[in-house]
Amino acid sequence: MRAVTWQGKRKVSVDNVPDPLIKEPTDAIIRVTTTNICGSDLHLYEVLGAFMAPGDILGHEAMGVVEEVGRDVGDLKIGDRVVVPFNISCGQCFMCNQGLQSQCETTQNRDQGTGAALFGYSKLYGEVAGGQAEYLRVPQAQYTYIRVPPDGPDERYVYLSDVLPTAWQAVEYADVPDGGTLVVLGLGPIGSMACRIALHRGNCRVIGVDLVPERLVRVRESGAEVIDLNEHDPEPIVIDATNGRGADAVIDAVGMEAHGSPIAEAAQTAAGFLPSPVGRVVMKNAGVDRLAALNSAISMVRRGGTISLSGVYGGAADPINMMTLFDKQIQLRMGQANVKRWVPDIMPLLTSDDPLRVESFATHRLPLDDAPAAYETFQKKQDGMIKVVLTP
Ligand SMILES: NC(=O)c1ccc[n+]([C@@H]2O[C@H](COP(=O)([O-])OP(=O)(O)OC[C@H]3O[C@@H](n4cnc5c(N)ncnc54)[C@H](O)[C@@H]3O)[C@@H](O)[C@H]2O)c1
Ligand SMILES: [Zn+2]
Ligand SMILES: [Zn+2]
Repeated sequence: MRAVTWQGKRKVSVDNVPDPLIKEPTDAIIRVTTTNICGSDLHLYEVLGAFMAPGDILGHEAMGVVEEVGRDVGDLKIGDRVVVPFNISCGQCFMCNQGLQSQCETTQNRDQGTGAALFGYSKLYGEVAGGQAEYLRVPQAQYTYIRVPPDGPDERYVYLSDVLPTAWQAVEYADVPDGGTLVVLGLGPIGSMACRIALHRGNCRVIGVDLVPERLVRVRESGAEVIDLNEHDPEPIVIDATNGRGADAVIDAVGMEAHGSPIAEAAQTAAGFLPSPVGRVVMKNAGVDRLAALNSAISMVRRGGTISLSGVYGGAADPINMMTLFDKQIQLRMGQANVKRWVPDIMPLLTSDDPLRVESFATHRLPLDDAPAAYETFQKKQDGMIKVVLTP
């Protein structure tokens, strides 16, 4: 089959690789009909390369049709149309039973000290082959799927794999009181969808912050206020707009590669170019995250407010302003999205008149073979690219 593989820092290719096979009775094989590139893939492309091996298949936002099943996959049947959640979870353990599927105890990576295994996401998360490919092996297939209606375009449902539940969790964790103010830092796919969800719920004022012009325009068109980082320091504006108090909640949808952290950027670049074993040690033991977005969240959230982190961070020794966090009594909530937990809340919005406008969410629809160029364009934020949908 054809698959997008990681080959080195800022280098992916599309290769012929062996078709996946059923290995466990709980496996299924999906013929992928649509698969996306995510901001999280950009971290592998750039700073987390030390945890990848050449040839690893990328991707964790896939949907398709079930082609083959093991004997223990419960109700899943050949021919079912399914979206594949990015986290692999069993549905039966202590964590899954509490809606913490991203911490599933059956697929946790105890050797790495990390949570549930993820598709296409490096040695840190189980080295499971990803979904930017013609076929995908789905482990724990008795639970790791979302069955969707047989009609309607793929783009109606494919964002259930990640963008929708991640943005939904970001808004849930932000827990903005009625009539409050929510600031969303970063208006990529996750931040812009979080703005749409918060506006759809309609209980708060939403202010989005980014520095890429077309991302700001799109979010303003969806009804939020926006602040352009190129022109303004957002902190005094947010403080002014909230009677001098600060926002009730701030979502950080930026993560470890934030613009505006020059020293950490140099450390990341160095770690990214080190040979893998050394690079892994540096990433795991040093403060290598670019914390500009998190730091601005800490300064613009009000006392007693909440910071909801969706952006992925990876440094184990980041310098964080504990004094301010403590003194302002800030609540921090974060983590990989528990995809299956939020599906019952989101599905009704997809089977109705599409209030989140998911069908027009992608800016680029490309064949799988164009993935290498798409990674580069997405990373450089060129050509108005905000979300890419690939067809194998
Ligand atoms: N928690 C989860 O389960 C989960 C799931 C998906 C993605 N993510 C993470 O969410 C983050 C966003 O993902 P995405 O797909 O939207 O990626 P993206 O890279 O397209 O979006 C990030 C945006 O942040 C903006 N930005 C950079 N520095 C900024 C700053 N200092 N202040 C404000 N904005 C700034 C960028 O211009 C960009 O538009 C990534 O870190 C990704 O790994 C987490
Ligand atoms: Zn993703
Ligand atoms: Zn589990």
